[in-house]
Amino acid sequence: MSISTITVIGGGTMGNGIAHVAAQSGFTVTLVDVTEAATERAIKTITGNLERQVKKETITAEQMAETLGRISTTTDLEQGAHQADLVIEAASERLEIKRQIFATLDKVCKPEAILASNTSSISITDLAGGTGRADKFIGMHFFNPVPVMKLCEIIRGLATSDQTYATIKSMAETMGKVPVEVQDYPGFISNRILMPMINEAIYCVMEGIASVEDIDTVMKLGMAHPMGPLTLADFIGLDVCLSIMEVLHTGLGDSKYRPCPLLRKMVAAGHLGRKSGKGFYSY
Ligand code: CAA
Repeated sequence: MSISTITVIGGGTMGNGIAHVAAQSGFTVTLVDVTEAATERAIKTITGNLERQVKKETITAEQMAETLGRISTTTDLEQGAHQADLVIEAASERLEIKRQIFATLDKVCKPEAILASNTSSISITDLAGGTGRADKFIGMHFFNPVPVMKLCEIIRGLATSDQTYATIKSMAETMGKVPVEVQDYPGFISNRILMPMINEAIYCVMEGIASVEDIDTVMKLGMAHPMGPLTLADFIGLDVCLSIMEVLHTGLGDSKYRPCPLLRKMVAAGHLGRKSGKGFYSY
């Protein structure tokens, strides 16, 4: 099946990034969010990021206008999704919300449409099981900032068909991404490796081994990471880090994945990182 029309559910950081790159790659995109204020915010962010690309001369002003021209928005899920060849869900990372969205999508989308989730840790097999099209269900896990990060983890649920996988792999390549095939296990590959590293860095803070800045410096200058693990935790959101650690801990049943008590304490205090203005650093 060839994909030309895409619906992105959720205009937050990941959703607006996915819509931006899909439209820039020539797809017709409908962005759906629950309020007009949210869709307006998403378009404003996309416009700002495209302007940055024009300033850096990676795209022309004409390409920017064409990209924006390919994106429409709506708050009506049914109207926004019924014509899509592919729907990419990037809503809140809450199982119940995602299940509800996919139940609706399953009813309103064309029978041949593919449903994808950008979840960072919820089981694709589990989400697919709530629809009548588990063979056409798949994970497309993008990375923040989407216009910059080249990776797309493509997660196969237990019933994802080879045809669905091949279509989505080629679609990710058209979006300029490097796809990696991953089986459906807690945390996939990225968060199975990244989150325990971040969690360990938080243990280093809790145990007073070094300052926050020095822990980040070790990983930046010693391991050439673009951001230290604590800066990255603030960037991702400490609540998201905690919830992914919980998924690893529950799903794999190994105590090595226990979330650091300091991480729990910071989330309980509302210190969620950049988005709340305070995490390991102040913003
Ligand atoms: N849209 C378009 N371009 C953007 C952008 C955006 N939102 N954000 C940054 N850029 C561009 C900049 O214009 C700049 O372009 P040039 O190289 O052409 O100059 C380039 O990206 C680098 O940006 P900056 O110079 O502003 O800043 P930087 O060099 O400090 O890089 C960064 C910023 C790209 C975010 C870098 O720090 C980085 O790679 N950090 C690690 C990010 C990371 O690990 N992300 C994954 C998080 S995990 C996740 O997303 C998934 C999950 O499941 C938790």
